Amino acid sequence: MEVVIVPDAAAGGELIAEAMAALLRRKPEALLGVATGSTPLPVYRALSAKVRAGEVEVSGARICQLDEYVGLPAGHPESYRSVVLREVVEPLGLAESAFMGPDGAAEDVPAACAAYDRALTEAGGVDLQLLGIGTDGHIGFNEPCSSLASRTRIKTLTEQTRKDNARFFDSIDQVPHHVITQGIGTILEARHVVLLATGESKADAVALAVEGPLSALVPASALQLHPHATIVADEAAASRLKLGDYFRATYAAKPAWQGI
Ligand code: PGA
Repeated sequence: MEVVIVPDAAAGGELIAEAMAALLRRKPEALLGVATGSTPLPVYRALSAKVRAGEVEVSGARICQLDEYVGLPAGHPESYRSVVLREVVEPLGLAESAFMGPDGAAEDVPAACAAYDRALTEAGGVDLQLLGIGTDGHIGFNEPCSSLASRTRIKTLTEQTRKDNARFFDSIDQVPHHVITQGIGTILEARHVVLLATGESKADAVALAVEGPLSALVPASALQLHPHATIVADEAAASRLKLGDYFRATYAAKPAWQGI
């Protein structure tokens, strides 16, 4: 994995937004997989700024969702569909038709999961998948001990993740117990996987994912199997990496035009 240590969240957002912009310059119809949560917001802000500044044209871009709560009513402001529309699709000036996601309100959730997994493949596959990381090492909503070969499916959230996400709701009781998530096997099919981690609360998860053994206990460690995975961590999130200096030196020696 390539590990890039950046001074702060804004620098991480800028770096990843530039990777997305570079992708869209060479492939205007690229399918970008986006994540929700607090961490990726600087990426979306930086990409929107590039669009406004005329640095990149995104009108052909397609956006797809990583995961979704099950059971929130359609249009709920915290459904991940609503969040991605608000934070990504609208600021980029894209039409809702450019956006695909799983149906968290479906009557037959397993069928909706399989349909979404198929739809990603039929759309040509994800070109760049942005990920956050949970304090428990999850990617998407693949909680610890998820199958490393898993496909899009329904999962039950751990209490830790429900607590972590309670800040988006009036109380923890409103956080759904069930979610749909792209599986780890699904995520690994993206051509480029970029994980952004910021803040000290992610330091243990980042160290385990990057330097620990490949283990279902730390789902993000599955990215060790990906031929093009980039971990972008701010100083706080990178603070428990044993090889931090090595990663800094390696990235500093890389020609700037190569990006991530
Ligand atoms: P966060 O969530 O960015 O809000 O910390 C990350 C995740 O759970 O994947």
